[in-house]
Amino acid sequence: MNIKTIMVIGAGQMGNGIAQVAAQAGYTVYMNDIAQEIVDKGVETISGSLDRLVKKEKITAADKESILGRITPVTTYDEAANCDLAVEAVVEKMEIKAKIFGELDRIAPPHAILASNTSSLPITGIAACTKRPEKVIGMHFMNPVPVMKLVEVINGLATDPDVTKTVREAAESMGKVPVECRDVPGFVSNRVLMVMLNEALWELYEGVATAEGIDQIMKLGMNHPMGPLALADLIGLDTVLSILEVLQDGYGDPKYRPCPLLKSYVSAGWLGRKTGRGIYLYS
Ligand code: 3HC
Repeated sequence: MNIKTIMVIGAGQMGNGIAQVAAQAGYTVYMNDIAQEIVDKGVETISGSLDRLVKKEKITAADKESILGRITPVTTYDEAANCDLAVEAVVEKMEIKAKIFGELDRIAPPHAILASNTSSLPITGIAACTKRPEKVIGMHFMNPVPVMKLVEVINGLATDPDVTKTVREAAESMGKVPVECRDVPGFVSNRVLMVMLNEALWELYEGVATAEGIDQIMKLGMNHPMGPLALADLIGLDTVLSILEVLQDGYGDPKYRPCPLLKSYVSAGWLGRKTGRGIYLYS
């Protein structure tokens, strides 16, 4: 199938990154969120990210303008009627995703593929909220989207292999490397990663080392680009907690039990970089 137009639902840190890489690949993009100021902020973030590329002479100022020109910010789902692929990247709440997929299914043309960037919720369950489960798939981008090469492609129980092929090709056209996996809680990426982040939080909670110490040990000792606590702040502590809860619920195994420190930070609203305070302070 020939994808020309993509709708991204959610203009937050993942959604605006997906809209950016899609527009850079030449697609016509509609970036949706619930309020004008949220989509405007998403466009601002994309503009800043493209400025970095202009500064490094990877694209020209004219390229930047044409990339931005391919992105239309919207606050309704009407434009789903014109899209070939929708990628949902909203909060990790099943009831919200269910509502969005129901709407997209109603409005999008029959050939359109409905993808979710969910970090851990079941693709098969999301697909069941539509009348086209064979056209529903996971398209899991990594943060920061413009930089990270991987797109984890998650096949739900009903996903049509032709849909998987089309989504793989779309990811490749955005300069990404698609890797497939089955629909299990946390998929491959977050099932491994969240255990490590949670363990680092337990170490901090138990006073095994300082936050800086834990991060330095993992950076210098394992050659990780950033330490697990800094990475948890980048992902968002609320997202880390909700993924751990999905893992705990999905496998019923205590190894996924979220560290109490993580729960307190989230209840304090200290969610990481996006709120200016998480494990570290950002200002
Ligand atoms: N937008 C665009 N470009 C960005 C960027 C952003 N937000 N952040 C960094 N970059 C670019 C920089 O411009 C630079 O480009 P260059 O190599 O062409 O000069 C390059 O990325 C490296 O950036 P910096 O030099 O500023 O900083 P670092 O070298 O420290 O890299 C990092 C920053 C890319 C974030 C790196 O620390 C990293 O890879 N960290 C790990 C990230 C990771 O693990 N992500 C996965 C999270 S899990 C996930 O997303 C799944 C979800 O479901 C939870």
